[in-house]
Amino acid sequence: MVSDESNITGFLDSAAEAAKAILETVKEDGFIYAFSHLDADGVAAAGIIGKALFRLDARFRIRITQWVDEKIMDEITSEKPQLIILTDFGSGYIELLNERLADSKIVILDHHQIVGEESANFVHVNPHLHGIDGARDISGSGVAYFVAKKIDKVNVDLAPVALVGALGDLQDKYDQRKLGGVNRKIVEDAVSTSSLTVEKDLIFFGRETRPIHRTLACSTNPFIPGISGEEDKSSAFLASLDIKPKHGEKWRALRDLSEDEKKKLCSALADYLLSKGLRYEVANLIGHVYVLDNEESWTPLRDAREFSVLLNATGRMDKPSIGVAVCMGDRGPALEAANRVLKDYRRTISKYLGWVLEKPERMKEYENIYVIYGENFINDKIVGVISSILSTNLPSPEKPLIAYANVEEEGLAKFSARTIDIMTNKGINLGEVMQVAAEKCQGNGGGHNVAAGAQVPIESIDAFIQIVNELVGRQLKGEKIGS
Ligand code: C5P
Ligand code: ZN
Repeated sequence: MVSDESNITGFLDSAAEAAKAILETVKEDGFIYAFSHLDADGVAAAGIIGKALFRLDARFRIRITQWVDEKIMDEITSEKPQLIILTDFGSGYIELLNERLADSKIVILDHHQIVGEESANFVHVNPHLHGIDGARDISGSGVAYFVAKKIDKVNVDLAPVALVGALGDLQDKYDQRKLGGVNRKIVEDAVSTSSLTVEKDLIFFGRETRPIHRTLACSTNPFIPGISGEEDKSSAFLASLDIKPKHGEKWRALRDLSEDEKKKLCSALADYLLSKGLRYEVANLIGHVYVLDNEESWTPLRDAREFSVLLNATGRMDKPSIGVAVCMGDRGPALEAANRVLKDYRRTISKYLGWVLEKPERMKEYENIYVIYGENFINDKIVGVISSILSTNLPSPEKPLIAYANVEEEGLAKFSARTIDIMTNKGINLGEVMQVAAEKCQGNGGGHNVAAGAQVPIESIDAFIQIVNELVGRQLKGEKIGS
C-alpha cells in the first residue's frame, strides 16, 4: 500500500499538533518526561525527541522501558511532569493511560495498533489513525521525526536516525528490501541533505565493518550451507573467484569490491545456492543498502542496518542511554561505549544459541510449533532476538517458533513468537495467537503476524504452550481463532 497524499496530510497535521503541545510546555519552562520502547526503533525515537528537546533548551528526562505498566504509571504520578511523551509505544495502552493519567498532558508518538479510545487531553500521532500502514510504511522513530521537524526544520538532520529505526523494525518490506510508504519521504529528506546514499548491492550484514570472508561466513540470512559459519571455506570460495581479501595490509570489506568483482561474486553465490536448491535465497542476495554518508567508514553506524543492531544491543543489554546519546550525535565516549556493548551483546547471543543447541530438551518440537525453554538462563530482554535468529534456521522452517524466559521477580514468563513470511499466506497470524492464548492464561499478548510476544504467569507456561500449539494448528486449517 502506497499511502495516499491526503492521508499523509492528515498525519502531518497531527504531528504539527504534537509539536505545538511540546513547544507550549517548553515555553512555560515545564518539565517533560519522555518514555520510549527499548528496541532499536524506540531508542532511535527517543534520540530524535531528545535532540529536538535539547535544541530547545528544554527541561526533560528520557526513560527507556520494555513496556508500559502500573510501575511506570506510579513513577510518572510521583514526578508530576507538565508533559509526558510516549514514543514507539503507548497506542496499545490507552485504557491504562486513561485510568491513571486522565488529568495529565500526554503526547503519544507510535505506530503500533491502537487499542481503546483516548480522552481529549491526549495528542495521539499514529499512522493507523490516517489509513497509513504502521507495520511497514512508518515506524515509531519516523513518527518522532515528523514531530521534530514540525518543532524546528533544523531537525531534518535527524532523518538518518529515523531510517535506522524503521530498518530496526524490519520495515524494508518493499521490492528488494526497500523502504516505502511514508518512509520514502524520510529517505528523500536524508538524500537531499547529503546524509544518505541508497545503493542496490549484495545485501550482506557487515558490508561496512567486516572483512569479506567473514561477512560471508557470518551470514545467517541468507544461510549459505558450507560457507556460513566456516571462515576458511569462505576464504577458499573468494580465492576461487580471484577476489583478493586484502588491499596491501588492509582487509577489504564488501563495499570495497569493484563493480566487476561484485558481479562475479553475486553470480557465483547465485549458482552455488541454486546448486543446493535454495532458489528463495538467491532472490534475496541483492537489495537496497542505506549508507549514512556522514558516518566514518568501518564503524557500525555507516550501514543503517548495522546502526540499528547497535541500538538494539544498547536497549537489550540495559544500556539504552548509550544508544540514545549516539542518536543525539555523540561520536566520542558514547560510540566507544556502544561498540563495547555491541561486542558483549554478540557474545551473549552466541552463548545463548550454544546453550539452546547443546541439549535437545532445550528446544522441543511439537505438532505445529517449536518451543525453546529459556527459563532462567536466557535474559527476557534478549529472548526475542534468539527467537528471531533460530526461526530462520529450523529443521522444519514452516513451524513457528516460540521461545520464553522467566522474569522471576514478576512471576512471569516472557514469550517471543516468530515465523517466516511465507507462513502468513498459509493463514498464520502470531499476533492473534499470542493474544488469544495469553488471555486464556491471564496474561497479555499481541504483536504482528510474523513476530509477536506475550507475558504469562510462570505457572501457566505449559498450558500456554499447549494452547499455542493448538491455535497454530487451527489457523493452518483455515479456522478463525479470534473473537
Ligand atoms: O517482545 P517481542 O520482540 O517478542 O515482540 C514482538 C512484537 O510483538 C513487538 O512488535 C511487540 O511490540 C509486540 N508485542 C505486543 N504485545 C505483547 C508483547 C509483544 O504487541 N504483550
Ligand atoms: Zn517500532
